[in-house]
Amino acid sequence: MNIPLSKVYMDDDIKKAVLEVLDSGWYILREKVREFEGKFAGFCGVKNAVCVSSGTAAIFLSLLALNIKPRDEVIVPSFSFIASTTPVIHLGANPVFVDIEAETYTVDPEKIREAVTERTKAIIPIHLYGHPANMDAISEIAEENDLYVLEDACQAHGAEYKGRKVGGIGHVACFSFYPSKNMTVCGDGGAVVTNDEEIAEKVRMIRDHGRREKYIFKMVGYNLRFNEIQAAIGIKQLEKLPEWIEARRNIARMYNQALEGLVTTPVEETWAKHVYHLYVIRTEKRDELREFLRQHAVSTGVHYPVPIHKQPAITSVLGVQPALRNTERFAQEVLSLPIYPALTKGEVEYVSEKIAEFLQGYK
Ligand SMILES: Cc1ncc(COP(=O)(O)O)c(C=O)c1O
Repeated sequence: MNIPLSKVYMDDDIKKAVLEVLDSGWYILREKVREFEGKFAGFCGVKNAVCVSSGTAAIFLSLLALNIKPRDEVIVPSFSFIASTTPVIHLGANPVFVDIEAETYTVDPEKIREAVTERTKAIIPIHLYGHPANMDAISEIAEENDLYVLEDACQAHGAEYKGRKVGGIGHVACFSFYPSKNMTVCGDGGAVVTNDEEIAEKVRMIRDHGRREKYIFKMVGYNLRFNEIQAAIGIKQLEKLPEWIEARRNIARMYNQALEGLVTTPVEETWAKHVYHLYVIRTEKRDELREFLRQHAVSTGVHYPVPIHKQPAITSVLGVQPALRNTERFAQEVLSLPIYPALTKGEVEYVSEKIAEFLQGYK
């Protein structure tokens, strides 16, 4: 037995949908993409979804559409995957790193307030691990200071903030369909979702060489398009997403019960619906526990061992960044346990028992 950290769902229906696209002769930005965009927008409760080549591309194109310019400042938590930040740097703007809240691992609104300057243009809250950021407090700061809010929802398809799906709360939001995500297109892929027609139209154009007509280029664009095979897979995966979210929540409940008191288990705020893209515990014995679980055929992950503000790619460009207390501490302590809809009750029990067994050795 070997329990992976995550597992992609596959069935004959998905394979058939892929073969149909192969036979259709249409491969890029055609009917399937439009259908998937419509359905994904509907799922998020927003007017527009624009599919692009990755979550990273979604963030880059959104920042371009928001007109982020060199020397502008963009406030972003450092506790995330590096792609939450690199698009800011590609535009010549400055990411300003802030700390996270201890309970939810999402950005601390008070730290955002302290970081706002005359040059601040946008805030990127990240719905990390599938738990929504504290959006009311963030939106309030944004309104007071005339800032854009770009939700990084790459890990949070279907998560809810006060009963509203994430993705429709800020000015624009970005999703990833990378294979480990709660739904995937079995390759790279992403989406920009927004209620703002102007932002959606800009992203549609810039992803496709800056055009809407074949040989009239209105803007200097890129090729960051989405394809029909991935859209066909996305349509099928989206149909299953609601039941998968419930399965993940159920697994999280089982882990919570088994691990309460042994390690720090994830918090779900009263105003939140967590979709558990990752089930993350905290312990000071993280590395030893990880090795113990590996020896017992349980795969785990660390999201993320080095915060973005300490990455060589960042310090070499921006210089040494100020310390961030929670971020730096949690980078040493977080451990992601296996979670995916097909994970069985027996497997959750096995993983939990092994964790208990390891911790007994320390008493
Ligand atoms: C929080 C976060 N932001 C951005 C990204 C980038 O998405 P992608 O890998 O699709 O480019 C990811 C996923 O990898 C992510 O987890």
